[in-house]
Amino acid sequence: MRVIAIDGPAGSGKSTVARAVADRLGLEYLDTGAMYRSVAFTVLSAAGDPDDLEFAAIAARAMELSLNDDRVVVNGIDATLQIRGPEVTRAVSAVAANPMVRREMVSRQREWIERRGGGVLEGRDIGTVVFPEAELKVYLTADANVRAQRRAKEVTDLDYQTVAEDLSRRDTVDSTRDVAPLTEADDAIIIDTSMLTIEEVVTRIVELLSSGDAKR
Ligand code: DC
Repeated sequence: MRVIAIDGPAGSGKSTVARAVADRLGLEYLDTGAMYRSVAFTVLSAAGDPDDLEFAAIAARAMELSLNDDRVVVNGIDATLQIRGPEVTRAVSAVAANPMVRREMVSRQREWIERRGGGVLEGRDIGTVVFPEAELKVYLTADANVRAQRRAKEVTDLDYQTVAEDLSRRDTVDSTRDVAPLTEADDAIIIDTSMLTIEEVVTRIVELLSSGDAKR
């Protein structure tokens, strides 16, 4: 089974890189952040409080989610744009810190891998929790200012300062939470993408896989 784990903070280039690596290798790609965002969307749609542990857990277990061709359909509603919007982005860290929500998402992620016999997964805890036996674990980082600039370019309705503050707040919550905090696996290959193009990062990962430097 061929599983590639790509973890790292927001704006490190994970999604673009993971997608491109999957294309090159002919594997499917799973954006696990979109799953946590979809749970936050479900909670907000039901007028729930993202900090209410029980409510979010029930919402997560009941959530019908389809992630196909870049479209995110949550409980029958196309939420592709909303899950990237400011409300969901504000609520997602609380939902992602909820151990019951994480248990449900991790189990869905493992099921996804089993059903396909492998894939490229991108998130915060793929190499540490979801699939520690992955063939290759990559931890992407980048300077905080570079990451904020990248995110500010993606979201057109927020200014740089707001994006930078939100990113820094999420970095803190994601790295200091009790369950599965954002951290690199001991055997992860760390790539600082601050000065690299997407193509350079993808090439580096594909080379690591073919050179056998990746863990077998
Ligand atoms: O990668 P992203 O910004 O779309 O992720 C959204 C949030 O979900 C982020 O605040 C961290 C969290 N997340 C997580 O806790 N574990 C994952 N495997 C993926 C994302």
